[in-house]
Amino acid sequence: MEENKAVLYSAVQPTNKLTIGNYIGPIKNWVSLQNGYDCFFAVANMHAITVRQNPAELRQRTLELVALYIACGVDPEKCALYVQSHVHEHAELCWVLNTFTYVGEMERMTQFKDKAARHADNINMGLMDYPVLMAADILLYQTDLVPVGLDQRQHVEIARDIAQRFNNAYTPTFKVPEALYMKVGAKICDLLEPAKKMSKSAENPNGSVFLNDDRDTVLRKFKRAVTDSDAQVKFDPENKPGVSNLLSIYSVFSEKSIAEAEADFAGKGYGEFKLAVGEVVADKLAPIQREQAKLLADKDYLNGVLKAGAEKAAFRAGKTLSKVYKKIGFYQI
Ligand code: TYM
Repeated sequence: MEENKAVLYSAVQPTNKLTIGNYIGPIKNWVSLQNGYDCFFAVANMHAITVRQNPAELRQRTLELVALYIACGVDPEKCALYVQSHVHEHAELCWVLNTFTYVGEMERMTQFKDKAARHADNINMGLMDYPVLMAADILLYQTDLVPVGLDQRQHVEIARDIAQRFNNAYTPTFKVPEALYMKVGAKICDLLEPAKKMSKSAENPNGSVFLNDDRDTVLRKFKRAVTDSDAQVKFDPENKPGVSNLLSIYSVFSEKSIAEAEADFAGKGYGEFKLAVGEVVADKLAPIQREQAKLLADKDYLNGVLKAGAEKAAFRAGKTLSKVYKKIGFYQI
């Protein structure tokens, strides 16, 4: 890794099954950007425990996610691919940043309010502190760009605020990061309720296409996707949210522009359109699934990747943390 390249940072939580929204929103973007940046891609297992997890499942999903990143095209030789809890600086910087973050700000975060409502029996401090840990993740690496889906906008904003607050209190310490969204696919919506984002934890799994769904399941889910009564394949998110969502998915998976995607279905019916979207998605997922399974059978390889990734990450993170400790007055030997 070269120190003078701009830095890209992103992460995904190893919770539930990943959807095509997780792939389209950030992961596909990572692969296209990994050559131009110093990339740090983490498995956010510390974020995952803000909602109660089954320990054996969490361990397994962590490894599955690492294999998935690589199967999707993330090159561990070019990037630092690591597990968040393997780099202790994340927790340490989070603690310092907590003292630069106000309780009121955290209470107002949309995702906190949403998750608190869904997990009313476990509104723990970690759930509230989630954005500060995410700020620590990003700021530790002097990150320039954070490729994420649109649902993470508020979290990247607060990371910027915290960075600026710290920089103003002392001297410039953190790079102030920018979020990066895909032009198409920054918010993939539920197939049955296109007003909502497609989510790993949706109540009805038929509205979400999971990355490990088999071909028949993918085709069945697209066949049942909600459209409208207009019978025209046109991109118009306001008036035709279901069709526009399907067009976005088709555009990303077929690597065509929205206009080209529209042209492919000019004069065709919704049945044919939905089948074609399902096919292009299933065709793309099959090799990823095969590669992921192959990688999961070689645990030594994956462990090697994670060890090297954590070392690269810790080197960069340690430098930032030591600067921070100096500025705030922690005595260092
Ligand atoms: P998580 O695990 O909820 O989601 C992972 C990524 O997937 C994106 N995403 C979507 N994009 C488009 N359409 C959708 N329907 C969709 N659903 C999810 C999310 O925006 C995200 O980019 N807090 C993060 C994980 C994290 C992180 C970080 C990200 C921890 N530390 C530092 C960036 C930088 C999260 O919950 O991701």
